[in-house]
Amino acid sequence: MKKNRNLILGLGLIAAGLTGLAIISPPSADNRMGMMGMMMGKGMKGCDGMMGGTMMRGGGMMGGMMKNMEEIRGKTAFSSNGERIFYTGINARGEAIKNSHGMQGVGCAMCHGADAKGMKMMMDVPALTWDSLTAPAGHAHPNGRKHPPYTEPSFKVCVLAGADPGGNRLSEMMPRWQMSKEDLDDLIAYLKTKGTNP
Ligand code: HEC
Repeated sequence: MKKNRNLILGLGLIAAGLTGLAIISPPSADNRMGMMGMMMGKGMKGCDGMMGGTMMRGGGMMGGMMKNMEEIRGKTAFSSNGERIFYTGINARGEAIKNSHGMQGVGCAMCHGADAKGMKMMMDVPALTWDSLTAPAGHAHPNGRKHPPYTEPSFKVCVLAGADPGGNRLSEMMPRWQMSKEDLDDLIAYLKTKGTNP
């Protein structure tokens, strides 16, 4: 587990940095975002040095991520357990869903976007809208990973074990989640309510 985290930090995935902060800070939105703000400020300045131009590639990647975080911060009421898990990684019983990155208080939205339409980070993070996941043609991702459409069972395998319906192993940047069947069902129900992809 520790190795994974180091690998991710090594790659400089911004989300992993946020992940680190989320572990230190309690999962209270304000506190978390305050620290994130600090970190993002630092990240910006660091662009010339450590990160080179990488963080800026892809046209406003930083801007997109900041906007996404604002949106997550602005979300304080949840209409379902699935929605809460999606945004916060915490279920309606108040349990942080355990994952291979050791994150607490970080949900799918941080990397996949509050709109679930995917994000550009150090690597492309795919869309999670149910329409997209189950698109009849399946997907060929920019990193060469190809797979047929997801079904409910194969989505669960993916979230729990990090394998797609083509049997490909996902990058370690995608956490593996120890989610109960009930929470997975609620999350799927929520993803079905998200809009279609462009
Ligand atoms: C730290 C960032 C991060 C978080 C948080 C995260 N993911 Fe991912 N996820 C990724 C990345 C990166 C990929 C792409 C991996 C690859 O292509 O190998 C991915 C891929 C996926 C895929 C595969 C989609 C496809 O088209 O094959 C599914 C399904 C998925 N994530 C579900 C989730 C769910 C559900 C959550 C929340 C419980 C979540 N992810 C949280 C980074 C994240």
